[in-house]
Amino acid sequence: MKVSVSLILSVASIILLPFAWPLPDQPQALDIFHQCLQNHNSPSNPISESIYTPNNSSFQSVLMAYVKNRRFLTAETPKPLAIIAAKDESHVQATVLCAKYSGLKIRIRSGGHDYEGLSYTSTVPFAILDMFNLRSIDIDITNQTAWVQAGATLGELYYKISKKSKFLGFPAGVCPTIGVGGHFAGGGYGNLMRKYGLSVDNVVDAQIVDVGGRILDRKSMGEDLFWAIRGGGGASFGVILSWKIKLVPVPKKVTVFKINKTLEQGATDVVHRWQNVAHTLPEDIFIRAMPMIVNGSRENEKTVAVFFIGMFLGQTKNLMTLVEKNFTELGLQIKDCIEMSWVESAIFWADFAVGTPVDVLLNRPKEAKSSFKSKSDYVKSVISKEGLEKIWKNMIDLDLIMWMQWNPYGGRMSEISESETAFPHRAGNLFKIQYFASWGDQGINVTNRNINKLRDFYASMTSYVSSGPREAFLNYRDLDIGSINSSNQSSFKDAQVYGFKYFKGNFQRLVDVKAKVDPHNFFKNEQSIPSAKY
Ligand SMILES: Cc1cc2nc3c(=O)[nH]c(=O)nc-3n(C[C@H](O)[C@H](O)[C@H](O)COP(=O)(O)OP(=O)(O)OC[C@H]3O[C@@H](n4cnc5c(N)ncnc54)[C@H](O)[C@@H]3O)c2cc1C
Ligand SMILES: *[C@@H]1O[C@H](CO)[C@@H](O)[C@H](O)[C@H]1NC(C)=O
Ligand SMILES: *[C@@H]1O[C@H](CO)[C@@H](O)[C@H](O)[C@H]1NC(C)=O
Ligand SMILES: *[C@@H]1O[C@H](CO)[C@@H](O)[C@H](O)[C@H]1NC(C)=O
Ligand SMILES: *[C@@H]1O[C@H](CO)[C@@H](O)[C@H](O)[C@H]1NC(C)=O
Ligand SMILES: *[C@@H]1O[C@H](CO)[C@@H](O)[C@H](O)[C@H]1NC(C)=O
Ligand SMILES: *[C@@H]1O[C@H](CO)[C@@H](O)[C@H](O)[C@H]1NC(C)=O
Ligand SMILES: *[C@@H]1O[C@H](CO)[C@@H](O)[C@H](O)[C@H]1NC(C)=O
Ligand SMILES: *[C@@H]1O[C@H](CO)[C@@H](O)[C@H](O)[C@H]1NC(C)=O
Ligand SMILES: *[C@@H]1O[C@H](CO)[C@@H](O)[C@H](O)[C@H]1NC(C)=O
Repeated sequence: MKVSVSLILSVASIILLPFAWPLPDQPQALDIFHQCLQNHNSPSNPISESIYTPNNSSFQSVLMAYVKNRRFLTAETPKPLAIIAAKDESHVQATVLCAKYSGLKIRIRSGGHDYEGLSYTSTVPFAILDMFNLRSIDIDITNQTAWVQAGATLGELYYKISKKSKFLGFPAGVCPTIGVGGHFAGGGYGNLMRKYGLSVDNVVDAQIVDVGGRILDRKSMGEDLFWAIRGGGGASFGVILSWKIKLVPVPKKVTVFKINKTLEQGATDVVHRWQNVAHTLPEDIFIRAMPMIVNGSRENEKTVAVFFIGMFLGQTKNLMTLVEKNFTELGLQIKDCIEMSWVESAIFWADFAVGTPVDVLLNRPKEAKSSFKSKSDYVKSVISKEGLEKIWKNMIDLDLIMWMQWNPYGGRMSEISESETAFPHRAGNLFKIQYFASWGDQGINVTNRNINKLRDFYASMTSYVSSGPREAFLNYRDLDIGSINSSNQSSFKDAQVYGFKYFKGNFQRLVDVKAKVDPHNFFKNEQSIPSAKY
């Protein structure tokens, strides 16, 4: 990495400046920012080609390309003053230094899947540091490792691994367009979780640009910061440039299945049994249960169907033996089972038709289809059949298009201690719930109505889920569980609320790391880690 003379000079001048320089007004801050970036231009890696302001005709399309939630595509959504779509690591360094110098805030975006749009919206004047151009994936097949840049998607990662080996995979999320930048930093879970844990449990090194514009790796950042970015979220600590991951063995063929049970078909009994067994089954099997509201047999009648989707690291006959012995209630039949390669299973889980060519994994996101709101919970004791029936009734009464994902824990997840990485939700959980409601462009009143309905439903779940704290999953970002006002000083009291829900006992150590690496809280958003106890 070449660091230009002007970069070094401006680092020096920033260090010499007093900490609390006054915040200039917007156009002035933008001018200073822009000018500073120009000063960092190098003929070999010109930064000007990475800078988009509203004057550039493609500004709007670049902004929208990585907006996953239409809720944040409205005219009222605050827009960035500029987008820096870094094409070189030096552009990331310059953006951090110049934003700090000009008093402009930044939002860092990799795949843009943040549920609350925190990677591309803000209530304070801001620029987006966009990582989608930095997406190389270098696989070292001998050592079974890979360096993956932040802007790569999970689909690209899965595809590239499969081109190198039929016997290797990586534990990460199910949606192929997710960016590894945000996803790994928040934990990253998928259907290999019971076997291999989370993405962060398989990250062995990382490169990050810190608040001083320096590029650090595991060795130079130290174990505390390396610990923090594995589950504590990237956006509080610096800009993740790339991750080094350890690939994991997968069999040449895995087995997948889908089974759909309505209430009439005994879904309640099956789900009740699922709660007891899904977390205790051998770790080669992962069965997700998805209770969803569906049309009933009569017109305008709603009911609940529970959709089970399974992943087994082995062949059909072994899966059948296992399910017949331990989970007969599921009613799995040989005809439900499909054997395929691991990379094909990624496509199956992403809901593409069987037989879809694997290069669909290389597709970059299309324009967001719907507006949505999501929330999360952890369940530590089995919900009774009566409880399940109440839950179904509450769902039906909601008058909302919504579903839940119940993801089984156990296996490897129970073997890793809560403090091993910043991600704390480990042993003691039977499963994690995701709540998800979606709708179209029907205006703010419909949006508010639907969000409030999902909140009511979440409130109705209180007695079944974790408490003290009511835990939540950082990657399922939810501003309802507490946030700070990003336009003024963060309040430690507010941050403690979401901090304990997302990080439990790890919150304090995250605050300590933050105080060390970003004491003046440059890397800040509505739910970032505060830099001090004020
Ligand atoms: C359809 C869908 C399916 C999903 N499925 C799963 C799943 O199966 N498993 C799972 O664990 N999660 C899942 N998620 C959640 C997903 O993991 C998180 O939204 C994740 O944060 C997305 O990462 P991103 O880079 O795409 O998002 P972004 O919106 O770009 O970023 C998310 C957060 O990380 C920060 N950030 C992004 N890049 C960097 C960087 N390079 N350095 C520092 N900070 C950065 C952003 O500022 C923001 O705060 C899903 C989300 C969606 C929308
Ligand atoms: C945006 O416009 C400016 C000024 O016209 C130009 O210098 C810059 O290269 C443009 N950005 C891109 C990404 O084309
Ligand atoms: C955008 O264009 C207008 C006029 O066309 C100009 O005044 C302004 O300085 C430009 N802004 C940027 C950031 O280039
Ligand atoms: C594998 O790792 C070792 C030690 O980290 C390194 O010396 C070696 O070059 C790596 N192998 C390859 C093929 O890069
Ligand atoms: C499950 O079955 C219900 C009722 O037959 C149906 O409405 C729903 O679409 C099915 N869900 C899936 C994912 O197949
Ligand atoms: C469910 O019923 C509604 C009308 O009540 C209809 O508009 C909708 O298309 C139906 N959905 C499905 C998946 O059949
Ligand atoms: C049934 O589950 C138990 C507990 O996890 C496990 O030890 C056993 O191997 C399973 N049975 C089969 C046939 O896989
Ligand atoms: C939204 O609700 C407000 C207050 O109830 C009402 O005044 C407004 O007309 C509604 N807007 C739309 C688009 O329906
Ligand atoms: C955040 O704080 C600013 C300045 O103190 C204030 O103007 C704004 O209304 C606050 N926003 C919220 C959502 O509380
Ligand atoms: C900061 O924002 C919070 C809302 O989140 C508000 O209650 C508080 O008064 C604000 N403080 C200042 C100094 O503006």
